[in-house]
Amino acid sequence: MEKIHIPVLLNETITALDIKPDGFYVDCTLGDGGHSFEIFKKLSSNGLLLSIDQDQHAIDFVKDFYKKEIKQNWKIQKSNFSKIENIVSSYNRQPDGIVMDLGLSSRQLEESHNRGFSYLEEDEPLDMRMNEELGVKAKDLLVVLSEKELSHLFYSYGEEKFSAKIAHAIKKEITNINTVGDLTRLVYRVVPAAHQSSKNPSRRVFQALRIVVNDELDSLRTGLDSSFKLLKPKGRICVISFHSLEDRIVKDYFNKIADGGEGSLLNKNIIAPTDVEIERNPRSASAKLRVLIKN
Ligand SMILES: C[S@@+](CC[C@H](N)C(=O)[O-])C[C@H]1O[C@@H](n2cnc3c(N)ncnc32)[C@H](O)[C@@H]1O
Repeated sequence: MEKIHIPVLLNETITALDIKPDGFYVDCTLGDGGHSFEIFKKLSSNGLLLSIDQDQHAIDFVKDFYKKEIKQNWKIQKSNFSKIENIVSSYNRQPDGIVMDLGLSSRQLEESHNRGFSYLEEDEPLDMRMNEELGVKAKDLLVVLSEKELSHLFYSYGEEKFSAKIAHAIKKEITNINTVGDLTRLVYRVVPAAHQSSKNPSRRVFQALRIVVNDELDSLRTGLDSSFKLLKPKGRICVISFHSLEDRIVKDYFNKIADGGEGSLLNKNIIAPTDVEIERNPRSASAKLRVLIKN
């Protein structure tokens, strides 16, 4: 298998982590292993890396792709990072640094194992679970939620202006909506042409469904707070976010800690990808890196 995901803000994140060779680092979002491997290369045999992902397909890929490199001191575990306190408690060490690179990997978009993460994969079912043990799929939300609740979901988690119209059409046609293509065609019909920019008009609806199916924002809130508590003094937490809902949570949490005198921000402003990175990897365009140092 080939690597698909190009790591975003890789050098910036590694520099911000200020890696100590004997330190303990946690990568909460393993993906294709881009950030993890770069951290691992900087560790001595006394250092320890723990990589977490809630998607078994990401774990399987990395274990196979890096089978020659993975040693005793690179641990890989399937879990949601909201459970980081439990996971780390078995290591008897406090982390020197924690990384979160949020959202989906390119592998999940392009090789989804029939989970319909991408609005381009017309024939895939509306599933969207990163962890296939979760109970509720995207299609279940469309069926179970009322028109009002769906409209609220698209507005709150997708910042979709036409949420009410889309929700109305979905409920009217629910028996015919089973695949990604069924939903994208409906959105295309409902959203007025004048509001369809160069970006796919289904982008926001897909983002909203994915956030709710995977409980992404609550996981982020819990994961951030637990991570900060676990960190060693002077330890660092680096978070890369890709949309304003995620970034607001990170920004507010980091500011609260800094204002309370428990930590400080490495940079006053966000760290963003360079033009060269965006050109090489357009998916990095919306990335924002924030770094918090524990006092
Ligand atoms: C953007 S990718 C990470 C890419 C990785 N940094 C790399 O360079 O290859 C995000 C990964 O985090 C995982 N993920 C997202 N939210 C998670 C959560 N709450 N807990 C655990 N894993 C999560 C996804 O399954 C995905 O594989």
